[in-house]
Amino acid sequence: MEDKIKEIGRQIEDFNIKDKETLEKFRIQFLGSKNVLKDLFAEIKNVAAEKRKEVGQSINSLKNKAQIKFDEFTECVNEESEENTGLDLSLPGDNFKLGSRHPLSIINEEIIDIFGRIGFSVSEGPEVEDDWHNFSALNFPPEHPARDMQDTFFIKKEEKEIALRTHTSSVQVRVMENNQPPIRTISPGRVYRNEAISARAHCFFHQVEGLYIDENVSFADLKQTIQYFAKEMFGERTKIRLRPSYFPFTEPSAEVDVSCSLCEKEGCNVCKYTGWLEIMGCGMVDPNVLSNAGIDPKKYSGFAFGMGIERMAMLKYEVKDLRMWSENDVRFLDQFKSAW
Ligand code: DAH
Repeated sequence: MEDKIKEIGRQIEDFNIKDKETLEKFRIQFLGSKNVLKDLFAEIKNVAAEKRKEVGQSINSLKNKAQIKFDEFTECVNEESEENTGLDLSLPGDNFKLGSRHPLSIINEEIIDIFGRIGFSVSEGPEVEDDWHNFSALNFPPEHPARDMQDTFFIKKEEKEIALRTHTSSVQVRVMENNQPPIRTISPGRVYRNEAISARAHCFFHQVEGLYIDENVSFADLKQTIQYFAKEMFGERTKIRLRPSYFPFTEPSAEVDVSCSLCEKEGCNVCKYTGWLEIMGCGMVDPNVLSNAGIDPKKYSGFAFGMGIERMAMLKYEVKDLRMWSENDVRFLDQFKSAW
C-alpha cells in the first residue's frame, strides 16, 4: 500500500501538463469520478487497523497535491489561451499625437508671468457685461460712437443695457468697486466687437487690461512698468515710445510703440518701414473713473493699460492673418509645439 501511494505521488508530480487536453487527462486520472485515489481509499479496509489513520492521511494529502497542481495549471492554460487570441503584450504601443498649447494661451501666460514678477495679480470679469461697467463708469458719454450697434453686440437690440464686453477695461471698474488701494492687477479675457471678419479684424479677440492704484502713482511709474514689460516680452534691446492719444477713461492718455525687434529700427515689412510697432493704449486713470468706482481721487491716483493678445502674438510669431488664431487648423497650431 505504501509503495502504491508513493508511486501515485510520483505520477502526480511527473505528469506533464502542457495544454488543455493533458490537463483534462490529469483531472480524469487523479480528480475525476473514477480516479485512482478512490481505489486507494477502497483498499484502506485491508490495511492493519493501527495504520489506517496514517494511510488515510497520506491518500488525502495526495488528493490535495493533485488538486493544487490542477488549479495551478488551469490558470496557466487559461492565460496561454488568452495569448493565443493574437494579443501580443510585448508589442510596443502606438504613438499617440501630442497636443500643444494654443499660441494665444502661451502669450497670455507669458504676459501673466511677466506682470506676476512685479506683483500684479490676475482678476477676471464677465463677458456679458452691463452698460455701467463697459461704458458709463469708464466715462463714455451717452452719445459715444462705441455704444453704437456698429461696434457692440447688445444682448437685446432694443435695450442696449446688457452687451458682450467690448474691452477688458470693464474689469478695472469691477476690481475698484470691490477693493481698496493699493491695487495691482491684470485682467486677461475675451472681448467682442461687431466687425466683419477679415485678416485684420475679428468679431472676437483677447485683451489684457492692467491697473495700478495707490497713493502718489505717477506717469513715470506707468512708463517704467511698460518699459519693463516691453523688454521682458520682446527682448532686452527693446525701446518704447509713447504718443499722446485719447481714451475716455484715462487722462492723459498715450499709445505705446515698441522698437521693431525684427529689423532693430532699420525698417522692414512688419513695421512697415517705420521701425516701430504699436502694442497698447495706456494712461492715468481719470479721476471721474476713480470716483465712479468708489475710490477717492484726492487720495489715490493710478494708471491703466490695455493690449491685444492676438496683436502681441502676431508680432512675436509674425503671423499676418487674424483669422488663424481662431480657425483651429491643426497644421498651424502644431507649429507652436516647441514653445512648450
Ligand atoms: N480699452 C482700450 C481698447 O479696447 C484699451 C485701453 C487703452 C485700455 C487705454 C486701457 C487704457 O486701460 O488705459 O482699445
